[in-house]
Amino acid sequence: MVRKTVNKKKTDSKTLIEPRQDDRFKILLLENIHAAADDTFRNCRIERHPSSFNEDRLIELLQGAHVLGIRSKTRVTERVLAAAPQLIAVGCFCIGTDQVDLDAAARRGVAVFNAPFSNTRSVAELTIAEVVMLARHAVQRSMELHHGRWEKSAKGCMEVRRKTIGIVGYGHIGPQVGLLAESLGMRVVFYDILKKLPLGNARQLSSLEELLKTSDFVTLHVPDTAQTRRMIGHEQFQWMPEGSFLLNLSRGSVVDIGALRQALLSGHLGGAAIDVFPKEPSSGQDPFESELRGIDNVILTPHIGGSTEEAQRNIGLEVSDALISYAQDGTTAGCANLPEVQMPLAEDSYRILNIHKDVPGVLSQINGLVAGRGANIKAQSYNTRNGIGYLVMDVEKSLSRIVEKQMELLASNIRTRLLF
Ligand code: NAI
Repeated sequence: MVRKTVNKKKTDSKTLIEPRQDDRFKILLLENIHAAADDTFRNCRIERHPSSFNEDRLIELLQGAHVLGIRSKTRVTERVLAAAPQLIAVGCFCIGTDQVDLDAAARRGVAVFNAPFSNTRSVAELTIAEVVMLARHAVQRSMELHHGRWEKSAKGCMEVRRKTIGIVGYGHIGPQVGLLAESLGMRVVFYDILKKLPLGNARQLSSLEELLKTSDFVTLHVPDTAQTRRMIGHEQFQWMPEGSFLLNLSRGSVVDIGALRQALLSGHLGGAAIDVFPKEPSSGQDPFESELRGIDNVILTPHIGGSTEEAQRNIGLEVSDALISYAQDGTTAGCANLPEVQMPLAEDSYRILNIHKDVPGVLSQINGLVAGRGANIKAQSYNTRNGIGYLVMDVEKSLSRIVEKQMELLASNIRTRLLF
């Protein structure tokens, strides 16, 4: 939802809005971004294209655009950013931000937002569904029926009630899995490198080894880091009880697939559900190769843990809200490349935003300029990140064009915006 209307008074490239008869600003949305975003941007001029574009075409389309919305295919390089000086923000309507040169964007005062947690619930739901499917060998039975074989059997099948699920990584997805598992009557334990507040009756364990030794189901929800790479291999499978199950819906690098294959073929593990792989096909045209293909009671899914209509809609809402909020009051909460600052607008005040190189003395220079114009500062909030400083300041009276010009002339200045 648009929070408030921004009126436009000035004309240069560093302001939010170029002068327009309709006081709107231009949003360029590529790659079929979910329609939920349109509601948030309803007071803006939206230009939509279903595909991504190469650098040259992207630069052409960006002329006059203040905000760019993309998914994972559009590459926003330093050259693109340099050719679009009026661009204030890029919204990645997806989980990752690898497609954007984040440092170059920060150096040019372009804020980048994404939606890392919009599909949390979707992953948790698929995880729980797979726990039940593994316990009942249901996917195996289904495949047999598809091939005309009626294998009605209870052998090796069990209820999940009173079984223990061990969650590795208790960040956003982990606790959701825990809550859902608990509602099925499962015992929940987790392991995380950080001390975490357990939800429900979950219990934090002090080591991965303890978790692996005590869980009937182990589900991985960790990021891809040097520490998590191949964190589950031969030794860890030996720690897991005979007949237990492994689920990985996190990152493909976390599990040693060769070791998993051995643990499954030897009958040590009762089954596995794998959604992410060390090497994934880049499109539906490429074949899927894996040592796990064809093994009994192994559920393989093509990285769809977070792929639901609801998650796409949430992404559309979350990113568009972050963009409009940044455009209209300078909020950078959750920003992928600029320092995070969030400050409620002080009553009867005007807001000035300044992104600058984080060098000694900048703040006193800026405050001096504002005070020099006789403007009382009502509130200010400041943060730094990777050599960039971001100041949000509410002042009692509108600042003159001269003060703004003076701020822009400071050697440290990257971008200054006045919101009226
Ligand atoms: P998160 O960042 O909120 O939580 C990760 C947790 O893992 C944190 O609490 C962190 O402290 C913990 N952790 C880090 N290193 C660890 C270690 N060595 N041992 C134990 N714990 C460790 O991440 P979130 O959102 O919960 O996502 C988890 C994973 O799921 C990520 O890898 C993400 O990429 C993946 N994911 C997969 C999707 C899919 O489609 N299959 C969709 C969304 C996320």
